[in-house]
Amino acid sequence: MTEMPAPKPSKKLFIKTYGCQMNVYDSDRMADALAPHGYETTGAIEEADLVVLNTCHIREKASEKVFSELGRLREMRAARRAAGGDMMIGVAGCVAQAEGEEIVRRAPVVDLVFGPQAYHRLPELIGRAHNGAAVVDTDFPEEDKFEHLPAARREVTVKRGLTAFLTVQEGCDKFCSFCVVPYTRGAETSRPVEQVLAEARNLAAAGVREITLLGQNVNAYHGLDAAGRTIGLGELCHRLAAIPGLARLRYTTSHPIDMADDLIAAHRDLDALMPYLHLPVQSGSDTILKAMNRRHTRAQYMDVIARIRAARPDIALSGDFIVGFPGETDADFEDTLSIVREVGYASAFTFKYSPRPGTPGAGLGDQVPEPVKAERLERLQALVTAQTRAFAEACVGRTLDVLLERPGRMPGQLGGRSPYLQAVHVEAPEALIGTLQPVLITATGNNSITGKIVTGMEPNSASVVESVASVA
Ligand code: 5AD
Ligand code: SF4
Repeated sequence: MTEMPAPKPSKKLFIKTYGCQMNVYDSDRMADALAPHGYETTGAIEEADLVVLNTCHIREKASEKVFSELGRLREMRAARRAAGGDMMIGVAGCVAQAEGEEIVRRAPVVDLVFGPQAYHRLPELIGRAHNGAAVVDTDFPEEDKFEHLPAARREVTVKRGLTAFLTVQEGCDKFCSFCVVPYTRGAETSRPVEQVLAEARNLAAAGVREITLLGQNVNAYHGLDAAGRTIGLGELCHRLAAIPGLARLRYTTSHPIDMADDLIAAHRDLDALMPYLHLPVQSGSDTILKAMNRRHTRAQYMDVIARIRAARPDIALSGDFIVGFPGETDADFEDTLSIVREVGYASAFTFKYSPRPGTPGAGLGDQVPEPVKAERLERLQALVTAQTRAFAEACVGRTLDVLLERPGRMPGQLGGRSPYLQAVHVEAPEALIGTLQPVLITATGNNSITGKIVTGMEPNSASVVESVASVA
């Protein structure tokens, strides 16, 4: 890692992040990589010397948004140049990786195109872009970019608050037939254990109390430790949970076939590991699961859920679902509705299938017509919304640990998160920000729940853990 004495910031950097939390993490690392070169982040695009769009390619809408944003930036830069100033424009992330040169062809306003494996080379790429012609870097290098990127910096993370993301794994070898990730993020790799622990210690020392481990296939994590052993995510969670100050761990996103026994056991054994798991199944139909190349059946998914619930009865689940994959019949879609009812999700993300160029799904016949997709999405969404509401209502009367993070909406209130990532509002003095408190949930609102602190009760005590009935 190259640490230079930081010069006085003289340039402003504006990063707009699209897509998943991995992009949020990457945007922060880009800012960290540029700080030693005089760049300071700004929230005001009008004053930026460098604008980076950190893009997402997972669905069509996500990439189209980037091109319309580039249209706006072209006008903004023209105005800036007319006034004697300038602005550099970069496109990063998965659209950059997938489209490369094509972006410059379609939007010549772009100076810089670079994929997720090139972030540590950003200062050098900017230097080259100053020479005129657009610079495109979408190589998958041999070297480990994390070795060259500054780890999450202390002073930066303090500003970010009590929770932080930490990427531990990148890329994917599963090749689900609808998904671009294996092409844009490349083969699956895991960061070495010591690198992850060092970054986590750094975050904890800066006051971070909750870390979410990130990876496209995070539960496929297999990092080398200092003793030369390969360890999985369960063991990594054990080592992270031992770091003083870290109260909570989460991880996302997982694939059902990688829910190893030791990871499931970690949910039983570690209080710090939150009882909330994002475990996408995508469809409830075995025919569609096969066509999606998901490598498991509905019954196998249900078996994984049963084992997790046996280990950690208060666990709640969230998921991702795609409607309208090529060949999906009404009966297949009914199977998706029925698996949602059978599992009972606390929350779920629902998507219309969007053919991604270069993926096997895009070439399949029997694409589902748009109005059919729209109708299915609406029905699934209604079911999922009802489940989320029912889950929140089932929390009323329970005592949940809440990490108090910030002043609330009303004076005298604080806002925080439950183990299930619900926003919670509670009457409490500001001195309690940064602490975990047992909160008796008394009511549900539109997007949050409210409650009161239960005095004389230790957070994380066994009596706090109650069983959650699944909601249908
Ligand atoms: N069309 C629609 N949804 C998709 N996802 C991934 N690729 C596609 C696609 N081509 C969804 C999946 C995945 C989530 C991150 O995005 O549900 O789990
Ligand atoms: Fe995409 Fe996830 Fe499938 Fe990998 S496992 S191909 S990231 S949906």
